[in-house]
Amino acid sequence: MKILVIGKNGQLGRSIQKFISNYDLHEFTLAGREELDLSSSKSISKYFDTHSQFDVIINCAAYTAVDRAEEEADLADQVNHLAVKQLAKFANSQKAKFIHISTDYVFDGQNESPYLESDNPNPINVYGKSKLLGERAILKVMNNNAVIIRTSWVYSEFGKNFVKTMLQLGSEKNEINVVSDQTGSPTYASDLAEAILNIISNDNFKKTIFSTEIFHFSNSGETAWSSFANEIFKLANLNCKVTPIKSEQYPVAAKRPKNSTLNKTKIIKIFRINLTPWRVSLERCLKNLSKIN
Ligand SMILES: NC(=O)c1ccc[n+]([C@@H]2O[C@H](COP(=O)([O-])OP(=O)(O)OC[C@H]3O[C@@H](n4cnc5c(N)ncnc54)[C@H](OP(=O)(O)O)[C@@H]3O)[C@@H](O)[C@H]2O)c1
Repeated sequence: MKILVIGKNGQLGRSIQKFISNYDLHEFTLAGREELDLSSSKSISKYFDTHSQFDVIINCAAYTAVDRAEEEADLADQVNHLAVKQLAKFANSQKAKFIHISTDYVFDGQNESPYLESDNPNPINVYGKSKLLGERAILKVMNNNAVIIRTSWVYSEFGKNFVKTMLQLGSEKNEINVVSDQTGSPTYASDLAEAILNIISNDNFKKTIFSTEIFHFSNSGETAWSSFANEIFKLANLNCKVTPIKSEQYPVAAKRPKNSTLNKTKIIKIFRINLTPWRVSLERCLKNLSKIN
């Protein structure tokens, strides 16, 4: 299969690249902002007009600056919604299957239990709203052959993320304040990358036609940011005390959901995806970052 990966320089895009040599039956094309700029509908059209058809399009790119999005709503809407609609239209016209990544931030966080795919979204920030509109555009344009995967709290060896920030802070400070009233499930981007590549090989995805569906994916288990930070320090042997604080004590531009844990039963059942406990994956990432042996 000819597979296009959009967003090659992001955490997920780079994580997918770690594994593609294991899938040499497929031909991968990788596109970054330089080749395919999602802020420009002309750039998107030009890209598809000048490349041969793909069998699968994986969109790992997004406007992910959650706080900045509050000031840049138009750009977030273009990249996370309008560009996604355009990609879905190209996928449709090429008869390509489409895999798109969305977010736990489509929910308001008021649920007591992990969110199901069928739960009502109600985003509480601009980023979440733009991602929800992206999901809805795909559902409208592609009745069939798209897979939308909502994920949460993504970290990796690459780019900027909570784990790398904590490793930095933990090596500089003896004590830090971390929010303790937001619960979620961390996702090691490598695990999501492997899940996506497994989905592509799954018989339910290889069918000529399947109905477009939303799935949830993260590592298993849940935690709060403060406990996540504690575990990072423990595993990396950093002597930094975590003081739990309330969200109100850490003012940021965009509101965050209090509970953004996702129920993953559907992706396990339909695509036979195995989930790794978040602590196990965190340890693997720290090993890959050479922070532990
Ligand atoms: N990070 C999280 O905690 C999290 C949580 C839930 C869901 N997600 C979703 O998971 C997916 C992957 O996230 P990630 O953590 O891998 O994100 P990331 O590391 O921030 O990477 C996003 C990528 O999108 C690219 N991009 C941004 N604007 C673009 C544009 N106008 N044209 C082309 N490319 C553009 C960026 O390009 P440059 O490298 O050139 O800037 C970057 O490579 C996204 O859909 C995100 O919404 C992420």
